[in-house]
Amino acid sequence: MDTDRLLRELTDFLRIPSVSTNPSHNADCRAAAEWVAGELRRLGCREVQFLASGTHPVVWGVGPEVPGAPTLLIYGHYDVQPPEPLDEWTTPPFEPTVRDGKLFARGAADDKGQVFCLLKAIEERGGRPPVNFRFLIEGEEEYGSRILFELLRREPERTRSDAVLIADMAYIAPRWPAVYTTLRGLCYAEITVRTAKSDLHSGEFGGAAPNAHEELARLLGRLKTPDGKVHVPGLYASVKRPSKVELATWKRLPFRESEFLKHRVQAKALTGLKAYSVLERLWALPTFEIHGITGGFTGDGAKTVIPAEATAKVSLRLVPDQKLKAVERQLTAAVGRLAPKHVQASVRFLHGADPATVKVTHPAFKLLDQAFREVVGRGTVPARAGGSIPVVPALGKGGAPVILTGIGLPDDRLHAPNEKLDLKQLWDGIRVFGRFYELLASL
Ligand code: BES
Ligand code: MN
Ligand code: MN
Repeated sequence: MDTDRLLRELTDFLRIPSVSTNPSHNADCRAAAEWVAGELRRLGCREVQFLASGTHPVVWGVGPEVPGAPTLLIYGHYDVQPPEPLDEWTTPPFEPTVRDGKLFARGAADDKGQVFCLLKAIEERGGRPPVNFRFLIEGEEEYGSRILFELLRREPERTRSDAVLIADMAYIAPRWPAVYTTLRGLCYAEITVRTAKSDLHSGEFGGAAPNAHEELARLLGRLKTPDGKVHVPGLYASVKRPSKVELATWKRLPFRESEFLKHRVQAKALTGLKAYSVLERLWALPTFEIHGITGGFTGDGAKTVIPAEATAKVSLRLVPDQKLKAVERQLTAAVGRLAPKHVQASVRFLHGADPATVKVTHPAFKLLDQAFREVVGRGTVPARAGGSIPVVPALGKGGAPVILTGIGLPDDRLHAPNEKLDLKQLWDGIRVFGRFYELLASL
């Protein structure tokens, strides 16, 4: 394996600031799509197309035809999350840098580095594994996958395959590869409160006029109780508890709550419902998070004003068997009920996803397990994931097993400053997936 060349190529991909949520990066998203398309052409794809969008195209590819071989659909995303806060990066997010065997860049693990891994695993096998490849590499995953959803609704035959492979996750611990049986869903919203026609002088009116930030803070405070229960009526009704067997298997995973607090969260304490284990809180319970609050005066210096409007960006994570549509209704109703009469409160939904459940009994999972076993010395453990990949339920609709796995590590800092990918994980991953493609012939 020519690791110097591979590292140069991945660096070129990571240099492109393909931040999908920010329109000023539309041209960069397009450039990242072009990069993926170039790779697919180099792999000898018969068909490489841009679908559904001029700015964040879904890159579709059909690999060389291998008569009689199974069809594998590879899904991934070339878009990344915003890199801010920039001053917390040791080296800039779009200037990929290797330190101590780790490649630091936005997208190194999520998901450009892993898409790269799946593609290079084909190349390293001489470009002709016994597999009919299909590729769906999108550029809007970090923003809810709206255009891919619509595309798959119109053209569900794109997902026709014997298996779907997604590498957008991590090992459960160093040296412990995993396959994931559930993903959480997501309901992302903006809650806005309006308290007056316009901002007011806080001396002239303070003491007698309502304050939008104060009302919003109180409202948000009421949406979750101090012990961590989300105070949205009906929210927990369809939450399915993990089975006793599943809970027992989680106890045997290489996960220590104290370790998680000390080395991963790096805070003074863990929060959430104390009656549940931390893994249950992360994998099997809904959440409510506040991402940011705007409105009023936040500039330099001081301004004495009573804000008339304030907005919070919030999201709930959803778990099996919750439904996005139902949760949207529940949140709207809860906000309406919790806001006092003199406050105008509204909820606007930005994007979302249903939770996903996949069975890991299909023979393809055995083959991936074998590939990991041969290359890294341990097979895949089934686990759940706290994050979301919106299109997973749609990709599985045709009946093909959706294999959720990855080569990241738990400390890769996805969405955060100093995201990284361990190069050893990447080189191992290229061998693992190369072997997996070879084994697929037996399907
Ligand atoms: N790769 C992640 C999802 C993920 C992360 C799964 C960690 C399992 C463990 C993905 O790119 C992601 O971040 N998804 C977003 C989706 C959302 C913006 C619709 C997420 O989970 O916040
Ligand atoms: Mn991802
Ligand atoms: Mn992500």
